[in-house]
Amino acid sequence: MHPLQCVLRVQRSLRWEPLASVSWLLLRTCRACSSFPSTSCPGPERQQSGVPKDFSSRLATGPTFQHFLRSASAPQEKVSSPEEEDPPPYLTVDELRGRQRKVYLETYGCQMNVNDTEIAWSILQKSGYLRTSNLQEADVILLVTCSIREKAEQTIWNRLHQLKVLKTKRLRSRVPLRIGILGCMAERLKEEILNREKVVDLLAGPDAYRDLPRLLAVAESGQQAANVLLSLDETYADVMPVQTSPSTTSAFVSIMRGCDNMCTYCIVPFTRGRERSRPVASILEEVRKLSEQGLKEVTLLGQNVNSFRDNSEVQFNSAVATNLSRGFTANYKTKRGGLRFAHLLDQVSRVDPEMRIRFTSPHPKDFPDEVLQLIHERDNICKQIHLPAQSGSSRVLEAMRRGYSREAYVELVHHIRESIPGVSLSSDFIAGFCGETEEDHLQTVSLLREVQYNIGFLFAYSMRQKTRAYHRLKDDVPEEVKLRRLEELITVFREEATKANETFVGCTQLVLVEGLSKRSATDLCGRNDGNLKVIFPDVEVEDVTNPGLKVRAQPGDYVLVKITSASSQTLKGHVLCRTTLKASSAHC
Ligand code: 5AD
Ligand code: SF4
Repeated sequence: MHPLQCVLRVQRSLRWEPLASVSWLLLRTCRACSSFPSTSCPGPERQQSGVPKDFSSRLATGPTFQHFLRSASAPQEKVSSPEEEDPPPYLTVDELRGRQRKVYLETYGCQMNVNDTEIAWSILQKSGYLRTSNLQEADVILLVTCSIREKAEQTIWNRLHQLKVLKTKRLRSRVPLRIGILGCMAERLKEEILNREKVVDLLAGPDAYRDLPRLLAVAESGQQAANVLLSLDETYADVMPVQTSPSTTSAFVSIMRGCDNMCTYCIVPFTRGRERSRPVASILEEVRKLSEQGLKEVTLLGQNVNSFRDNSEVQFNSAVATNLSRGFTANYKTKRGGLRFAHLLDQVSRVDPEMRIRFTSPHPKDFPDEVLQLIHERDNICKQIHLPAQSGSSRVLEAMRRGYSREAYVELVHHIRESIPGVSLSSDFIAGFCGETEEDHLQTVSLLREVQYNIGFLFAYSMRQKTRAYHRLKDDVPEEVKLRRLEELITVFREEATKANETFVGCTQLVLVEGLSKRSATDLCGRNDGNLKVIFPDVEVEDVTNPGLKVRAQPGDYVLVKITSASSQTLKGHVLCRTTLKASSAHC
């Protein structure tokens, strides 16, 4: 038996895996024979790739069980660096290095993936890779993928088709092009990706980015490499993300990963694993650095951002049960102790009073009064709450296992509006979930009318394998009905959002300037506290901190804008002055 196969079997029987669905850490197959590599299989690309011929003999000696034990318990504080790290027995330190090879990274899906791209790049940069934004000159192409709906995955399959052509046409004089799938799709489909298009060289699940240098080194030898092991504690706390799309105004800071909610429609618990939070101290350190760089807005990120719970330190309150929103339940046993979201939000907002704080994506069950109170009191915590409802029908909400009824949700909306006057609300909705009747659909329509969200994200239900809905429920709403209901929801959402946004007309809003408007070179674009886009002419204005001084607003400046018109997505107005967050608050 090959030593790697041996390790895999031992791992299975020891049940290290955080989720039963994940059964392997590493799979390497040989293109020549589509099997695990053995010393008798030369592998056709090995000669081409310039990797030393003794690779297969080193592979035969393979890693020991101790090696995997060591890597499984690697402390979080350490960023893997080939120089410092003990290389696996089948690779040399030199093979682990990027050796100036150029990486092209492409991101799909949610904001978490944008942040993960920055983490992956930070790890590869440390390992000696270079970054390129030119696909043609790339030696390695990595796609950071999404699995949330079928369409998201189809986009990646189409992209792989195009990349296959690029790979085949690659000149023999150049090093072979390597293609990797990172993130949720790697986690969900595993070897199906390696086998289907025969174009992918490596897979790395969302918790395996530290392993990228090793996976790439294996791929470089012509072998396929994969690590889709989910972790109970990986938060990349020590990896300072390198901003891939540098913005002078805002940044995202990942504070937790994974999801324990198990809503019946959702693939995320299977692709992203169990909930775990990053230690408060490391989050504060990152926010401080961003503030020193002059950034003016930080969005705290997590799949269930307000379920944050830092258990990394011994605490005196370890027996205290978690407060949930009134009328809401969790699908899991009550969690106790730890530093909670209100504590983190309080600390983060104290770092820099000129820095706006947002967070996404929360779950409605985790809005205890202390969080709402803090949002109300603190000037730099934006008065904007994403409150994903998913449906307006209690029957459908139960089938989705959301842990609340329509009535409890509406009560929470009222409570939030009382606690945070002027709060802006957004939501997610799914049209055509299993068993959704016309009556259920109309209840969603009526919820949209009742709440009048400012921002909305609406989707047609897409059945995902592995989920509870896939196993227990019937995807029985015909596609055309789903799409028709989705259209109706979009129309109603727009009508109501227009009405909600029109209430800003005549008000003065504090806007953080992002840059020129995409539609007009004479207009600037920014966002108000509620995260709505605000467009206004780029003219000279007075600076309130330097009376008499006339300035043109720059990205990262706060300005006061008098709103003159509104649509379902945008506000328009004229700029009054440049100001600071402290010196002003939105007036109506
Ligand atoms: N089909 C359609 N939409 C989904 N979402 C999550 N899973 C599915 C699915 N299977 C939506 C939910 C969630 C948002 C991120 O994506 O509305 O809040
Ligand atoms: Fe897509 Fe969800 Fe994965 Fe984000 S976490 S990439 S939305 S499947």
